[in-house]
Amino acid sequence: MTTAPDTASSSAKRASPDFPIQKLLADRWSPYGFSDQPVLETDLSSLFEAARWAASSYNEQPWTYFVATKKNSGEFERLLSCLNPANQAWAKTAPVLVLGVVSLRFAKTGKDNRSAVHDLGLASANLDMEATSRDLSVHQMIGILPDIARELYQIPAHHEAYTAMAIGYKAHTDELLDGFHERDLTPRQRKPLSLFVFNGTWGQPSSLTPQAPAPVINNP
Ligand SMILES: Cc1cc2nc3c(=O)[nH]c(=O)nc-3n(C[C@H](O)[C@H](O)[C@H](O)COP(=O)(O)O)c2cc1C
Repeated sequence: MTTAPDTASSSAKRASPDFPIQKLLADRWSPYGFSDQPVLETDLSSLFEAARWAASSYNEQPWTYFVATKKNSGEFERLLSCLNPANQAWAKTAPVLVLGVVSLRFAKTGKDNRSAVHDLGLASANLDMEATSRDLSVHQMIGILPDIARELYQIPAHHEAYTAMAIGYKAHTDELLDGFHERDLTPRQRKPLSLFVFNGTWGQPSSLTPQAPAPVINNP
């Protein structure tokens, strides 16, 4: 089934920024409901290509991804089994699942790479932005079962399965699973800049205070 954009959930979920931001950033959100529309392999390739070009400490590129689509149900079930039960309950509707693994040591020196998990996050954020630009959605998950993943995928020492992602087209409101309607329709909330951009001492808000709600920048 092909899914047209669902304006009800998309407009409820769009960010309401205090300062102007790019449309892509405002439009990204993490759905619990996915349509059964498959993701084209050409799109999937571009998502990982976007991840490939992320910045990383010493250009180590410490990320590895396992990808599974519903086209291969055995592989899909294998990856699904690496998620915790709460995430399995909704992520099973996504047409694509991804497991993110980090290499915790620098390949050249063998020293600990303190940036590895951070850099996996950057790569996944790149992937998410590329997905959003293609009307696809990504829901990242920390709720995984790393020991199960290690066994099933033979993940080597000094590497760790860290996060997973459900990827696909958003479900229409009438396709949402029971118990997930509210989550996919509730407006997104964020702390104001005054609570996380400081100046001088801890807790001292910087002068970057919003004057009025700001418009989203529309890209051509
Ligand atoms: C690294 C990371 C881990 C997350 N883990 C989970 C998770 O295990 N389960 C879940 O339902 N959502 C998870 N989320 C989604 C967050 O709850 C979501 O991003 C947050 O509530 C903000 O909502 P938004 O992405 O729609 O703006 C995770 C997000 C990130 C970035």
